[in-house]
Amino acid sequence: MEMKAAAWGDWNWNWNWNWNWASRRLNPNSLLVASACAPPQGNRLFVLGTGFVGRHVSQRLLQEHPGWQVAGTCTSPGKQKQLRSLGIEAHLFQFQFDYEKYLEALLRDATHLLISIPPAAAPAPAPATLLHHAHPNLRWLSYLSSTSVYGDCRGAWVDEHYPVNPTTDSAISRYQAEKAWTDFGLHLGLSTFIFRLGGIYGPGRSALDTLLKQRDLSENQKRRDSRDFYYTARVHVADICQAILSSIEKPHLGKTYNVVDDDPAPRAEVFAYARDLISRRYPEMANNLNHLNLGDAQMIIGEKRVSNLRMKNELGVQLIYPSYKSGLQSILDSWPS
Ligand SMILES: NC(=O)c1ccc[n+]([C@@H]2O[C@H](COP(=O)([O-])OP(=O)(O)OC[C@H]3O[C@@H](n4cnc5c(N)ncnc54)[C@H](OP(=O)(O)O)[C@@H]3O)[C@@H](O)[C@H]2O)c1
Repeated sequence: MEMKAAAWGDWNWNWNWNWNWASRRLNPNSLLVASACAPPQGNRLFVLGTGFVGRHVSQRLLQEHPGWQVAGTCTSPGKQKQLRSLGIEAHLFQFQFDYEKYLEALLRDATHLLISIPPAAAPAPAPATLLHHAHPNLRWLSYLSSTSVYGDCRGAWVDEHYPVNPTTDSAISRYQAEKAWTDFGLHLGLSTFIFRLGGIYGPGRSALDTLLKQRDLSENQKRRDSRDFYYTARVHVADICQAILSSIEKPHLGKTYNVVDDDPAPRAEVFAYARDLISRRYPEMANNLNHLNLGDAQMIIGEKRVSNLRMKNELGVQLIYPSYKSGLQSILDSWPS
């Protein structure tokens, strides 16, 4: 991966604003000054929605690839503070004011753009808005989507050629967002990476964490339904980072990739495994953990088994956690005894 010396000082905008329109503290002139600056040198990732994945990817870049600069958005001052403490130039993203100008200024100097805001979180930035502006520095564009766009394939194996069939509102808007960001890339002469992610887990967000919190859940929330026995895809956040970082090295390969592990399994099976892991390590907790009847696992007839062959073959990703089993074990091992 090419590393260049950073010139973050050139990106010297006054971002110390409260973006809440109601506060009226925004100084539009600052945006104009920013636009007039010469573009800084080096690689600059901008993450629209620096959440769980965005933060992990940003940290990997900053820790392992000196010279990269990373900026991004979040929606609360608390998260902004956390992200800044990690070296990420975090900006509060709120939609109440003229966000076309805001986006234009934010993205003007980005060389790499990762879009991670869920489309259902309305209103989300529309690629059409961005089309109005030139983005001369952009060399890599990636949108984080979901395997939900395939819909329920009745347990079939599904690769990137499989016809999409989004049925829920969120899956439909995800697929629309995929198309919009791909069009945006075409407009700029870039091939967009669409990463269809399985259920994301990792440290602090996993079946283990859910089980430990379950005492706070209502009976309704604890109740399982038959879909818990359908095949679902998942992927550890460290492997998502691998796919994204690999794609940055191969920008010409931009297209759709499924990013999932090798082990499609029903949610009920994953939770049963997580429960066993916790029970073995903390026997005193065994009776408090929600019990699932795996006898029903023969009901597996729905959803899909998502293939990751393209990701492995073209992006060269070797999964760190090919199964939820190794992924959960590593999370448990990281817990203090
Ligand atoms: N969870 C899964 O299993 C799963 C599976 C497949 C795909 N995905 C999708 O993959 C992407 C990355 O996942 P993730 O787990 O990293 O997501 P995440 O942690 O929820 O992060 C989403 C980011 O979007 C921001 N955001 C949310 N609503 C917004 C709004 N209305 N306006 C502006 N920003 C907004 C959040 O801001 P804050 O940081 O301030 O909250 C956060 O930075 C997301 O689009 C997610 O929906 C998730």
